[in-house]
Amino acid sequence: MRILGIETSCDETSAALLHVSKGVARIEKHLTASQVLKHAEYGGVVPEVAARLHVETLPLLIDELGVSKKDLDGIAVTRGPGLITSLRVGTDFARALAYGWELPIVGVNHIEGHIAANWIDKKIASAYAFPALVLVVSGGHTELILMKGFGKYERIGSTLDDAAGEAFDKVAKMLDLGYPGGPAVSKRATLGDPEKFAFPRPLLGQPNFDFSFSGLKTAVLYTLQRKKEWSAEDVNDICASFQAAVVDTLVAKTIRAAKAKKAKTVFLAGGVAANGPLREALASAVKKELPKTEAVIPALQYCTDNAAMIAMAGYFRLSKKKSDPWKGMLADPAWELGLN
Ligand code: KG4
Ligand code: ZN
Repeated sequence: MRILGIETSCDETSAALLHVSKGVARIEKHLTASQVLKHAEYGGVVPEVAARLHVETLPLLIDELGVSKKDLDGIAVTRGPGLITSLRVGTDFARALAYGWELPIVGVNHIEGHIAANWIDKKIASAYAFPALVLVVSGGHTELILMKGFGKYERIGSTLDDAAGEAFDKVAKMLDLGYPGGPAVSKRATLGDPEKFAFPRPLLGQPNFDFSFSGLKTAVLYTLQRKKEWSAEDVNDICASFQAAVVDTLVAKTIRAAKAKKAKTVFLAGGVAANGPLREALASAVKKELPKTEAVIPALQYCTDNAAMIAMAGYFRLSKKKSDPWKGMLADPAWELGLN
């Protein structure tokens, strides 16, 4: 089975060809055109600019991918959550293709796509044991999800304010490190001392599975206001100390939830999953505190937004002959995981 995946929920235009054979999904072709340089000029994503760039780029990517009706068994496209103007470019293009090529189409939840990234290159049917706990960390979401199987989700915790990626982006802005903030902050953090500044670990003392990052962001701001000029070394230390606070909080809450829910697998998913210290800390905490549980960390190239993960998520429905009517398959910017 071959599936064309399309992702345009935010500021990456991406298309991929997934081939499932002998129960294993491989990505045969994958093209992503990042808009970050364009948005960096404005210090963040400008929805109108993002949509226009998707309109210009998506047809070129599909053309370069070189796929046509005869190569495909279905189309999977991100339907939400995301920026409505960006989502509409991908969904409308995919709907037109499905209509013209007479192919089944499925609208994929973007968060489910991030989770599905963990199935690429694996034996799909027997890859993981359930129940599983998923830590979703992206620019718009920070959630703990209990998963009883693919497609069966229960959200048990989430951020009360900023998402983890958003906190990275805002701290980068305060420090003038540019956009997107996550890679910039983590790069500077490699040169700094994570214990130099004692930033708070928000909500760690509370028994729930929720997160809060706005207080941490404010703590960084107050620290910055203490002096007019900060040296490059200071900035490295602030980045390292901030990152350590985020990683500690994410890992501690995930381990606590995994223990409470007796998870057999712990998944990491979303753009912030590209963060090196988070990947290492989660893997080693699971190994140490839950030796019978498997920690699954997505391959680096499938962490930030991409169409391969969308094609992978689409496979789970298309392979069961489930699809959406192209006429009614409209973008849903606030689509919650687990709800239709
Ligand atoms: O999943 P994603 O690509 O887009 C959304 O769905 O939001 O996640 C983007 C987020 C941004 O906030 C970005 O700063 C963050 O992921 N990010 C990182 C790293 N790479 C991307 N955060 C920390 N460390 C990184 N290496
Ligand atoms: Zn994402």
